[in-house]
Amino acid sequence: MTWTPDSWRQKIAGQQPNYPDAHALHETETKLSGLPPLVFAAEARELRSQLGDVANGKAFLLQGGDCAESFSDFSANNIRDTFKVLLQMAVVLTYAGRLPVVKVGRLAGQFAKPRSADMETFDGVALPSFRGDIINGSEFTEAARVPNPKRMLEAYHQSTATLNLVRAFAQGGLADLHEVNQWNRSFVDNNPLREQYTQMAERIEDALEFMAVCGINANNTPSLHQTQLYTSHEALLLNYEQALTRKDSFTDTWYDCSGHMLWIGERTRELDGAHLEFFKGIHNPIGVKVGPGIHEDELIRLIDALNPENEAGRLTLITRMGANVLAEKLPKLSRRVQAEGRKVVWSSDPMHGNTVKASSGYKTRSFDSILTEIKQFFGVLRSEGAHPGGIHLEMTGQAVTECTGGAYAISDADLAQRYQTQCDPRLNGDQVLELAFCIADFLRES
Ligand code: PEP
Ligand code: CO
Repeated sequence: MTWTPDSWRQKIAGQQPNYPDAHALHETETKLSGLPPLVFAAEARELRSQLGDVANGKAFLLQGGDCAESFSDFSANNIRDTFKVLLQMAVVLTYAGRLPVVKVGRLAGQFAKPRSADMETFDGVALPSFRGDIINGSEFTEAARVPNPKRMLEAYHQSTATLNLVRAFAQGGLADLHEVNQWNRSFVDNNPLREQYTQMAERIEDALEFMAVCGINANNTPSLHQTQLYTSHEALLLNYEQALTRKDSFTDTWYDCSGHMLWIGERTRELDGAHLEFFKGIHNPIGVKVGPGIHEDELIRLIDALNPENEAGRLTLITRMGANVLAEKLPKLSRRVQAEGRKVVWSSDPMHGNTVKASSGYKTRSFDSILTEIKQFFGVLRSEGAHPGGIHLEMTGQAVTECTGGAYAISDADLAQRYQTQCDPRLNGDQVLELAFCIADFLRES
């Protein structure tokens, strides 16, 4: 079978909506296919090369953002706060690890959600599950839950506006390293655990002052006030992804131009499934989620299907197993990957294996189990001689109360205060920065 942007249609695609109006769907797909791409193929190639450095142990990947972007929470402040906190984390990680940090947002396209059940029952009424704003509405009514293809256009336009602002922030001064450091200082000064973090924040400040004395400043060194934040999302809704797939005229190869990096979720990575088929033909850097149920033979087959040339930077394996489960399962997997010489980026998603239902009824995750999974990730990979290459987080810059724990000791009872996520619980701005300081310790241990 030769690959085409629509060859996935001959395979079974999991987690897709049933659009009732085939004509409306076709019209939307045609329209989307004629709209400008969101990203440029050369940018995706640049990210692929930077991820090559990550695979080779010469850089670290920081990937994070909402579980699901939403139409109603779309605002400049939200985008700014996610951007700021990612930069703040990146400074801490860069300093501690003495490695460049590749920054990738879960944004400008992270709309479609896989669900564990097709139907949702509430008060005895069963309706199709909410699958993300790009597909249907979250309100629990029959009308809202009907998949509407026009939502793909709204998601596209929201993504272009998001990306536009992110590019402006990255190039226009919001990324100034001195500013970012000031934000970190105020985070540390206000934090209950300030004793623990002050020393590191001061060291970073010293380093910046020393550079300034040596004449290295934002005027002569653009990297002190500019940065690059790449975009990524789970390429779940294949109608949307196909419509934004374009042939790059420089290389004559295909790129999915809906984002720089795309990943396949844990629930749709069947070897003979539609998602794998689609991903085989696009040249973006890609990720695949790896849950606790995978056998090492299956993992090797997955790697070979997605990265047959064994090129470092093409494929990121994102583990999501849960604290303790990871410590049990990852050694075998990473040993096999090492033994067979497969070049991959190992990244840890410490969120999806640690979701629990609080006694209050909210879906939550504890800071401690998230930290434990990351710590085990570093420990296992290092003892297998592999590079713990990155982290993948569900997070926001907002002061939400969705995950428990952290320096401010959010409890089950606190969750109701500001529980705003459309889907999974996210670390808030303080929790995620605290996590960065903890990961900094793991990085320094190397
Ligand atoms: C996600 O990243 O939001 C997600 C659904 O993850 P997974 O596929 O690992 O469950
Ligand atoms: Co999620």
